[in-house]
Amino acid sequence: MSIKTATLHGVATIEIARPEKKNALTVAMYQAMSDALHKAKADPAVRAVLITGQPGIFTSGNDIEDFMTRGTGGGSDAMESPVFQFMRALLECDKPVIAAVTGAAIGIGTTLLLHCDFVYVSDEARLAMPFVALGLVPEFASSLVVPQLMGHRRAAEKLLMGDPFTPEQAVECGIANAVLPAGEVVNHARRIAERFNSLPPGAVREAKQLMRGPQHEAVLATIAKEGALFAQRLKSPEAMEAFQAFFQKRKPDFSKF
Ligand code: COA
Repeated sequence: MSIKTATLHGVATIEIARPEKKNALTVAMYQAMSDALHKAKADPAVRAVLITGQPGIFTSGNDIEDFMTRGTGGGSDAMESPVFQFMRALLECDKPVIAAVTGAAIGIGTTLLLHCDFVYVSDEARLAMPFVALGLVPEFASSLVVPQLMGHRRAAEKLLMGDPFTPEQAVECGIANAVLPAGEVVNHARRIAERFNSLPPGAVREAKQLMRGPQHEAVLATIAKEGALFAQRLKSPEAMEAFQAFFQKRKPDFSKF
């Protein structure tokens, strides 16, 4: 299994564990993460959720082979696919979600952070949202949330160019709380998560809902709009060229489009 789950001291941990493929996320892994989030939400013993990866890699994003062969994995209705089920489960998790970014966070590895409550990043990590460079469009409401966080121009560097950015830049532009030495990031995030054991869960839940509430409908509407375009773009010749180039370990050639 490439997603490991465990609950200890009030913290439900979701660990992405597919290091041989740089923690690339398959349809089955989204499903497992979505199930784990629903379980954590329903379990009164769980006070917070921790999402983490492996040393040196948080996740390299969606599995590109899955993209080529299965699209979003939802058949004719992309919104039914496991990736959208996961997005929804994360958005609707009413308990605090803490991310320990143990290494590179690419694509959804970065966009999922936009919907966590606390984000701690290893000093060795790099973040990137290279959707356009892959012939795709932004996802997980990043086209709404990233410009809101940092303004259009800095968002354009990250979403139109897909430029990688450092953990320090992630803090500076509001995506992360703090940078930690690589060996300390998971323990630090876990300590933050465990602090919720001594806070009143009802008040935490209602405060989180209040903080998210005004934006919730806009986020869901943006995800639906992005999702429809994303599903179309997955079949585009531009995306096919980018995916093939990745596996052939060469630069894509978009000069013919
Ligand atoms: N989907 C499928 N396979 C992936 C993958 C992904 N997103 N990311 C890495 N892999 C695979 C590679 O194909 C390679 O497989 P192989 O050993 O069978 O050749 C293996 O994981 C190791 O990856 P590699 O690229 O050799 O590691 P690296 O340390 O040089 O680089 C990354 C690590 C994360 C920078 C690089 O793998 C990468 O850029 N991945 C793709 C990121 C991306 O574009 N994601 C999609 C965003 S929408």
